[in-house]
Amino acid sequence: MASMSEREALAALTWLVENGADEALEREPVNRLAQPPAQPALPAERPRPAEPAREPRSSFRAPEPPPVWTPPQESLAAPVDGLADAEALARAAESIEALHDAIRAFEGCALKASAKNTVIGRGNPEAKLILIGEAPGANEDRLGQPFVGEAGRLLDEMLKWIGLDESNVYITNVLFWRPPGNRNPTDAELALCRPFIDRQIELMQPSLLMFLGGIATKSMLHESRGILKLRGHWYDYQTTPGGRVIPALATLHPAYLLRQPAQKRFAWQDFLKFKQAVSSGVHIS
Ligand code: URA
Repeated sequence: MASMSEREALAALTWLVENGADEALEREPVNRLAQPPAQPALPAERPRPAEPAREPRSSFRAPEPPPVWTPPQESLAAPVDGLADAEALARAAESIEALHDAIRAFEGCALKASAKNTVIGRGNPEAKLILIGEAPGANEDRLGQPFVGEAGRLLDEMLKWIGLDESNVYITNVLFWRPPGNRNPTDAELALCRPFIDRQIELMQPSLLMFLGGIATKSMLHESRGILKLRGHWYDYQTTPGGRVIPALATLHPAYLLRQPAQKRFAWQDFLKFKQAVSSGVHIS
């Protein structure tokens, strides 16, 4: 590598961390400056007919977006390694405490290897309202609690708008471990956490659920439509086919609202809808 002073190397590292690249993703370092392997020679191109002369174009070229690594998505039909273990462990838990011990002991989800903490839930485990977000971020991973960063503060504020707080809601995520660099989770990672989330719902018997953001909503409902289509509607949620039906409202993720504050008006409508359901008689704690 071209020589870099210690100060420059530290500045480059700080820049990477500030931009979210705060995890080493591979066991072995990758030398991105190494020469790529020689490409096989392409067949010679046939000469093209001359193109008519064009007006000169503007010299502006949009910069190439940086590459983002996402693990290859497994087909949903493919068996997920460790899923049977997750289901058996979740089913065997007869109390919330036993379930949380089982989640902490579960080694089947590879995300656990890069996470600092297993992040399960905060709030009242006896509450009748469960909010389900996406995944721990850097703050949550460090502190072992969901929604404790900026998005969490906004979520708490939104709950306050409708007269709720940690004493009458339970807040959890569709993933218990932070995906490295906050990348999107894979279907397999979501599938491995799902038996525990469903068991949490069965043990708590909530009156209402709220799904926060596209990843949580689409994964909980096995939906492919986007969150802007799904939000603001109620869905019948069942942990098992034929099981008890729990009304679930989908809304926007607080982290998205921090980036797109104009969308808060839709979240406000959704939270009011949730409040109406709460005040129309559901037992909340
Ligand atoms: N975003 C989430 O979806 N969950 C958290 O716990 C934190 C941020």
